[in-house]
Parts: sequence; C-alpha cells; structure tokens
Amino acid sequence: MNWKFSYAIGFHPWEETDQEFFQSLASLLERDEQDRGPPYGRALDIGTGSAIWGIELAKRGWEVTGVDFVDKALERGRERVKAAGVEMKLVQADVTRLSERDVGSGFRLILDTGTFHDFDVEQQQGMARSVDALATEDATVILLCWPRRIRPLIRGVSRQEIESAFAGWQITDVEPSFFKLPLPLEWVLRPDEHWYRLRRGRV
Ligand SMILES: C[S@@+](CC[C@H](N)C(=O)[O-])C[C@H]1O[C@@H](n2cnc3c(N)ncnc32)[C@H](O)[C@@H]1O
Repeated sequence: MNWKFSYAIGFHPWEETDQEFFQSLASLLERDEQDRGPPYGRALDIGTGSAIWGIELAKRGWEVTGVDFVDKALERGRERVKAAGVEMKLVQADVTRLSERDVGSGFRLILDTGTFHDFDVEQQQGMARSVDALATEDATVILLCWPRRIRPLIRGVSRQEIESAFAGWQITDVEPSFFKLPLPLEWVLRPDEHWYRLRRGRV
C-alpha cells in the first residue's frame, strides 16, 4: 500500500469503522487495565495514522506515543489530538527501525491497528525488533491482522509469521475484530481481521 499517496488523496477507509470494532478493542484493553487505576503506563501506537486509536488510549488513562512516517497522517493526528483535548505525543519515524532516541522506552502496551499485516517478512522482523527493544518485560502487544493477500492493497499475514517475528512473545488471545469498511469496499474486500494479543515471555 502506498500510504503517502492514500493520505494525499484522502483515501483512508480504515478510519470509518464502527462502535462494534471499538468494543472489541476495549475488551482487550481491559485485560491490561483491570486491577489497576489510571495512569496505566506508557503505550506505543504503531502506525498511528490520524491518531484515532491512540487518542482512545489516552482518554482511558494511557500515556501515549503515536508513530507514523506519513506527514499528512501526522498533521491530521495533531488536529484530532487538539480537538480531543488529550495528551498524546506524535513522532515521525519508520516503525521497522525504531530506537529509544525516536520514541523513548518502557512501553507496557503496544498497539498496531493495520501496519504489521502489510509488511514483508524483513519489515515484520524489523518492527518486532523495535518492539522488543522498547517494551517492558511484562508488556502486551495487540495487533490487528488481515489474514488474506489482496493485491495490490494488502499483503496479509499468517499466525506463523506473527509467531516467527515475535519469537520471545506468546499469543494469548485471537479474537474477531468486527472491523468494517465503508460500502462498497466492505462487499468487495470482505474484511476478516482478527486481534492478536501477545504477552512477553512465558504466560
Ligand atoms: C491501515 S493504516 C492504520 C492507521 C491507524 N492505525 C488507524 O487504525 O487508523 C496503517 C498506517 O501505518 C503507517 N505505516 C505503514 N508503514 C509504516 C512504517 N514503516 N513506519 C511508520 N508508519 C507506517 C501508514 O502510514 C498508515 O498510517
């Protein structure tokens, strides 16, 4: 996917999903929030786009940093953050090669809604290495993954690829996301995205 071009022409249908999708994400987040009060710790929103889900994390009490490499996406993100009246740091960087200098470290939660599943194997491994370096020992990763390849839009990713990239992590949950696209894309592409929740080390 050419992300820069998509944002330049205003094609970002992934931003138009609905409440059912948000509820499925909220139910996963609750697993890392229960038995604690906010603030919950540092969260990294990978491929944050226009910061939609990072803002939701910030509203819930996470200290959020969002990363994307497209100017236009971050510009829209900054506007949304301001309108929402929350604190969220936005950083321009490549998520396949993040360093502490780019975004800091000590992230308890890493969220990716739609970036990893478009990467080739080398990029997947680069992103996982970045996450390994920046996450706490008890961190959780939540990935939204599209399973099928749809040329030229989405590469798609398998469970085996997730396990291979995130070798030091265990998949604890795989759940439907109820992600929907605006019509007619919903009919044509038939999204079947699932959430993968991973915890570091043995669980
Ligand atoms: C499907 S969009 C999802 C955006 C946002 N997470 C959302 O759900 O609204 C994927 C995002 O990943 C970003 N992205 C893709 N590859 C990237 C990379 N290597 N480094 C940083 N951002 C990347 C794109 O610019 C795009 O904003």
